[in-house]
Amino acid sequence: MTRRDGPDLILAVDVKRPAEAERILDPLKGNLRYVKIGPRLFAAGGMRFVRRVIRAGFSVFLDLKLHDIPNTVAEAVDLFARNGIWALTLHASGGEEMLRAAGSAKVGAGSALMLLGVTVLTSMDQRSLDMTSPGSGLQGTILSRARLCEDCGLDGIVCSPRDLPLIVPRFTDRLVTVVPGIRDGQGVQDDQKRTASLEDALEMGADYVVIGRPIVRAPLPLEAMSAYSERLERWRGNNGY
Ligand code: C5P
Repeated sequence: MTRRDGPDLILAVDVKRPAEAERILDPLKGNLRYVKIGPRLFAAGGMRFVRRVIRAGFSVFLDLKLHDIPNTVAEAVDLFARNGIWALTLHASGGEEMLRAAGSAKVGAGSALMLLGVTVLTSMDQRSLDMTSPGSGLQGTILSRARLCEDCGLDGIVCSPRDLPLIVPRFTDRLVTVVPGIRDGQGVQDDQKRTASLEDALEMGADYVVIGRPIVRAPLPLEAMSAYSERLERWRGNNGY
């Protein structure tokens, strides 16, 4: 299921208000395809805002990371699947029944919605995983959750760029990889712990890279966006796309 037309960029438009998001998105119409909407903006703008973004020509990745009992998740997936959402996240730790219920709801809605399992948050390292799931190795947890996503018929997973060497050789062509935690430079700059640069993530086989704060919190977001787009285009050009 790896993208034949090369990797692409998803802008995580993590701002407070729909109007602020639209100020960033309006000038990007035609140049940017994928937009990620998270819980804060979804809470502020609801489906009405999401539909406006879709009508403006963007493919919406709704990153709500659903994690609930199977019936509740299936009902939410059914609604999103009928509303033209491009991709939706679920926590793989929600378990087999929950993931299968989500898949059935999508099929029942006759939708092309892409269901993505979050393996382990990119803000978590071994220490934080030890606190929630004592005794679980980070790599083993990521792998077993990715396998579960595949078995349950999900389209892809969200993982850290650092997980790609583990994931790509095992799941290429079967799971799309959506990769946040894109940062230039070394060291912790914010809550993201397992990070890599855009080029390193692409080199390691990311299908989609998710970039938020380095663009939306830049002093000039549109300039930051075009700098990332140019880097992506350069990489695609150098790699035969
Ligand atoms: O601002 P930043 O570039 O860190 O944005 C990354 C985005 O990807 C955020 O919206 C965050 O919620 C999301 N995300 C993540 N790690 C995951 C899943 C989603 O950082 N495992």
